[in-house]
Order: sequence, then structure tokens, then C-alpha cells
Amino acid sequence: MPVTALVSAKSSGVTTAALALTLASKRPSLLAECDPVGGTLRAGFLQGQVSAGFGLYHLAAAERTGTEALANAFASHLWGMDEAGHRKLLPGLTDPAQAAALGRTWPALSEVMHVMATEAGYDVFIDAGRLALESGRLHTTLTPAPLLHRADLTLMVVRGTEQSLTLARHLVDPLRTELAERGSGPDALGLLLIEEGPYQAHQVTDALKTPVMAALPWDPDTAGYFTNGGRPPRGYARSPLLRHARTATEQLEAAASRRHIHQQYSPRPANAQLAGILQRLAERGGPRG
Ligand SMILES: Nc1ncnc2c1ncn2[C@@H]1O[C@H](COP(=O)(O)OP(=O)(O)O)[C@@H](O)[C@H]1O
Ligand SMILES: [Mg+2]
Repeated sequence: MPVTALVSAKSSGVTTAALALTLASKRPSLLAECDPVGGTLRAGFLQGQVSAGFGLYHLAAAERTGTEALANAFASHLWGMDEAGHRKLLPGLTDPAQAAALGRTWPALSEVMHVMATEAGYDVFIDAGRLALESGRLHTTLTPAPLLHRADLTLMVVRGTEQSLTLARHLVDPLRTELAERGSGPDALGLLLIEEGPYQAHQVTDALKTPVMAALPWDPDTAGYFTNGGRPPRGYARSPLLRHARTATEQLEAAASRRHIHQQYSPRPANAQLAGILQRLAERGGPRG
């Protein structure tokens, strides 16, 4: 299953979207709250049920001990969001000052997340927060750059508003260049549209020259529950946000597997014909059609 990282140019709904996707997936799923500025789910959705002694920050010390210690710590710092244990959360930092300690932990943490995805079949979503640049590159402390480099898909969350598109326009190109030069390739970059505002998916794709890979509806009741916790709103299980999030997880999985197939064949000239067939399949919407 894919590892999908979500980022924004400015607070746009990254945490809400990541939680909706994690709770809606048909597969076992994991949400890693890796926003360097700090996680918001602990105090919000979870209403303080999870103490500061638990979560991402504690993995930095374990990584210094070794890979096995990190893997064990990772497993023991996952919070079950459902009774069956299919929905897991790695709670985020409690203070922005903790981010510096994670700088050298991200690459090994990325490995662990990929093992969860490929070996254990988890749909992994990373809340990578708001992008920060430094001389045109991803900022090394304010952005978990290694997680974005290695993700199967990196989605910039945008709203269909003029302001959101204007802000995203400045960051899309540096992010694509970064994924091309240091990541898994420029085609890992896509958009996740939050349907607020006048711009439709095709217009957003054109405006940012980047495909909208999935869209989520404007749903203040369900989003408010994800942000503040408490009692789920009426009709929560069939809410627009959850229903569309479920569809979105399927679209993302299909996009990631098309990428994977394409990567397997495209570097080898002998497979040019096969690559052409795969390209046409991809353009028609892929084998899942
Ligand atoms: N799809 C949505 N529909 C309605 N409100 C939303 C939606 N997504 C996010 N919001 C609201 O927008 C605000 C910011 O969302 P959040 O997920 O915290 O953004 P970020 O993580 O990018 O800062 C919150 O109040 C949240 O409830
Ligand atoms: Mg957030």
C-alpha cells in the first residue's frame, strides 16, 4: 500500500484530510503526525486522552540506539483509534522546539513507514504540515524533507480559492524540483483539493500545472469533529467527508500503483513498447478503470 505525505502552503486542511483518509480507508491504516510545528490531534480530536509521554518525539532517542530500537519504539508509540486496532495514530510533537531532535530520525522513520506499507499492508498517511523553504529548498528543520523525498505520493492540499491557489503557486515548482532531484521523482507530486471556493478540479490542475489526484468536500460538521473531538455529528459514518475520503484512498492507491508499474518499466529502453501500453492505460484511468 502507498505511503502518502500531505503538505500545504498555508493551513488548508492537511490534518483533517489525513485523519479522514486514515479513518475511511478500506485497509488497515496509519496516520503519522509529523508536522514539525507540532501535532494538533492530541489536544483536538483526542481531547487530551494521549499524554505527552507518548508519540513521535520519543522515537528520536530510540533511533540513536539503532534500527531495531526504533522499530520497537515505533510499534509501542502507536495509538489505536478503533477497538479492532486497524486505525493507528503516531501522535505528533507537543512543542515546535522538539523538531530539531527529529532531523536525523526522519530517514530511518521513513524506512519503518515503508515497511508498514509494503510488508504489513497499511495505508500510511503522513501529516507533514506546512511547507517551509530555505534558499528554494525544503527547510531541513521546519519540513520533514526525507519523508517527502521517499513518499510514494506527496500531495499538496489546496482549497479552490484564489488565495489558496496563489499561495500554492509559489511552492509547487520548488517542491516538484526537490522531488525530481532528491526524491522519488517529479510525478510523485499531486494535489488534494478541498472543495471550498469557486475553482473546480480541472481548473486547479490547469492553474498549478499539477494533477488533482483526489478531492474532499467542504463538510464543516465532520471536519469540526475531527478538529475538536467530542461526539461525532449525526450521520457521521455516512458523512460527505468520510464517503469521499474512502473514494480518495482508492484513487490514491491506484495512482501510486500506476507510478510503481511505470517506474519498474520506464528506465529500460527494451521495454519502451510496454511502457507505451502502460502510459495509455494510465491515461485511460489505469487498470482499475
Ligand atoms: N473539508 C473540510 N470542510 C470543512 N472544514 C474543514 C475541512 N478541512 C479542514 N477544515 C477546517 O479548517 C481548519 C483547518 O484545518 P486543519 O486540518 O487543521 O488544517 P491544517 O492541518 O492544514 O492546518 C479547521 O478548523 C478544520 O475543521
Ligand atoms: Mg495541521
